[in-house]
Amino acid sequence: MYLSSEQERMLDGEMGEVTARLMRLLVRLGDVYGADRMIPVESVQVSGVSYKSIGDPGLAFLRDFADRGARVKTLTFLNPAGMDLENWKELGIPRDFAEKQQAIIDAFRQMGIVVTATCTPYLAGNLPRFREHIAWAESSAVSFANSVIGARTNREGGPSALAAAITGLTPNYGLHLDEARQPDILVEVDAELEYTADFGALGHHVGKIVQNRVPFFRGIPRANTDNLKGLGAAMAASGAVALYHVDGMTPEADGMDTAGLETIHVGREELDETYEALNTGEQADAVITGCPHASLREVIEIARLVEGKTLTRELWVCTSRSTKEVAERMGLDDVIERAGGHIVADTCMVVSPIEDMFATTAVNSGKAATYLPSFCRQKVVFSNVRKLLEEA
Ligand code: F3S
Repeated sequence: MYLSSEQERMLDGEMGEVTARLMRLLVRLGDVYGADRMIPVESVQVSGVSYKSIGDPGLAFLRDFADRGARVKTLTFLNPAGMDLENWKELGIPRDFAEKQQAIIDAFRQMGIVVTATCTPYLAGNLPRFREHIAWAESSAVSFANSVIGARTNREGGPSALAAAITGLTPNYGLHLDEARQPDILVEVDAELEYTADFGALGHHVGKIVQNRVPFFRGIPRANTDNLKGLGAAMAASGAVALYHVDGMTPEADGMDTAGLETIHVGREELDETYEALNTGEQADAVITGCPHASLREVIEIARLVEGKTLTRELWVCTSRSTKEVAERMGLDDVIERAGGHIVADTCMVVSPIEDMFATTAVNSGKAATYLPSFCRQKVVFSNVRKLLEEA
């Protein structure tokens, strides 16, 4: 792989031992995947933020890096943490967990990372442009950035994202290149998709079949960005889809050649079967929405649905801190709190320790429904948000 003289100096340790170590990691990665050179990235999203995911070894690693002077070179955001960083006590997070989580956040802050913990950085102040090269780690954010925005990122792991943040570089391979962005399977949809949960069911079904290929969807006449974030998140969870195209909708779909591609058909029957397979529970202890983190439009919708009602179950609406602040300014938090629910920032149902609080969780997210049984030992009720809130 070609390296500029400055990049060679980084590799040789002239910019410190931490930078040299991370450059070695990126060069190795580039060699494995046949990258021709390094490219600068305009932003990074780092995963491995929750204490539940990285534990004491992860915390020790991050502290060590921060203390050795690691500082980011580019705009870097964080994936969700294991708790609401402000309201953790009210939500029943154990103090020991909270202290460790805060120490992780402090290490990231010391490195110059923006301390906003969300899987929707594009809704929280980190919006890439079409064709911009970025290095993001969280799979739903990767999918949204590639597919809906047309930015370019591979699905980074925790260490490679941190390396990109500190060097400002990523190896030029995979989804940074035009050829890897071509579709390789056609998905003909013949079903009405009304709720984001329907898009989640579609994504779960398709992701299982296509795995890490690039699907091209036909037959989706309407979808808003919340529907698309739900679709991408579910495909990234049941498969490893990092890029998809929707005919007439996503920015790179026009002019893509789909002739001769393997084709799969998805109708109501497949969606109903998916709903059935993902429903493993009956009586939910809690309804948790916001996977990926809820947009303001989704928070407004939930506030309208619960206004004047009294919920008999716990309700969390997971979102970014900035969306929560706007919701508070609009009085939506009061509406949701009066009904018995909470707007929860910085975290989500998968990376917080909900297994210590609930046994059955109701969600409207195909991704959450996929992960909750294994990551959080939950039984799952999976349905659309209207139905879940009516039942609650
Ligand atoms: Fe985001 Fe957590 Fe879902 S990180 S995509 S809300 S599992």
